[in-house]
Amino acid sequence: MALITTREMFAKALNDDYAIGAFNVNNMEIIQGIVDAAKEEQAPLILQVSAGARKYARPAYLINLVKAAAEDSGLDLVLHLDHGEDFDICKKCVDDGFTSVMIDGSKHPFEENIRITKEVVEYAHAHGVVVEAELGRLAGVEDAVQVDARSATFTDPDEAAEFVERTGVDSLAIAIGTSHGAYKFKGEPYLDFERLKTIHKLLPETPLVLHGASSVLQEFVSKCNQYGGQVGGAQGVPEDMIHEAVKYGICKVNVDTDLRLAMTAEIRKYLTEHPEEFDPRKYMSPARDAIKSMVQHKLKDMLNASGRL
Ligand code: G3H
Ligand code: 13P
Ligand code: ZN
Repeated sequence: MALITTREMFAKALNDDYAIGAFNVNNMEIIQGIVDAAKEEQAPLILQVSAGARKYARPAYLINLVKAAAEDSGLDLVLHLDHGEDFDICKKCVDDGFTSVMIDGSKHPFEENIRITKEVVEYAHAHGVVVEAELGRLAGVEDAVQVDARSATFTDPDEAAEFVERTGVDSLAIAIGTSHGAYKFKGEPYLDFERLKTIHKLLPETPLVLHGASSVLQEFVSKCNQYGGQVGGAQGVPEDMIHEAVKYGICKVNVDTDLRLAMTAEIRKYLTEHPEEFDPRKYMSPARDAIKSMVQHKLKDMLNASGRL
């Protein structure tokens, strides 16, 4: 029941071809739903906090809620900074007790990305904290259907090998066609598995990270729309593509959008069916339950991605 790093869990996942779920947290109910699910599945778990989450909930609340979740559940949890944009925010999180930080230098030129990543790695490692970096930029919805834009933003395998060697980073987020949010593909879903295979071949010991990995489960999209939402044309990464990715070194699967959809669908349903209710506990309870069962489904799926366990 402590906050731990990803070091051991990634080594096991890489060896046994499964993935660890990394879920974005923004409030108590989201944390409780996710952690209850992991407890039931006895699954390793990463809870990650974005800059937006820090702004919304304030850092001290999130840090202490995650610590409370570890104590209450008896689970070891990873507290991870998602998409840290510079050294300062990474340093702040290391100093505040995060056990893992992401420095996202992907918007910078290669050499600058290496420079800031190295700076974060030096500081974090000196404090026993692990670091995720990103190389290549996640495609936007429009980019994903344009071949040229695809190759321009996807991770270059040779650069990935050089990047890991020169920075000493612990894990690497790669761009192979996913994007953040609920609208990932306009037509057929496409991920560049050949590119992923090449990266994994060059970096067989490096845990790779898949951002934008929500499946956008249609059950929740339909429920949102059934109860007054307007979430048209939402499409995520099919779960069999996640399984395929796990075969080639993906050991961290980032999920936020699926949490948002599950929670919002249930709140919409509850409030539509109980228009007289105004006690937040009444609609947050089923919303938390919806998160728990959705996360249980995802964790089972990630742990059995290779069908070997
Ligand atoms: O990386 C994106 C995550 O979904 C976090 O989103 O920045 O709105 O908290 P956010
Ligand atoms: P989704 O938007 O697919 O849930 O991705 C979340 C993510 O990558 C957080 O870093
Ligand atoms: Zn991301």
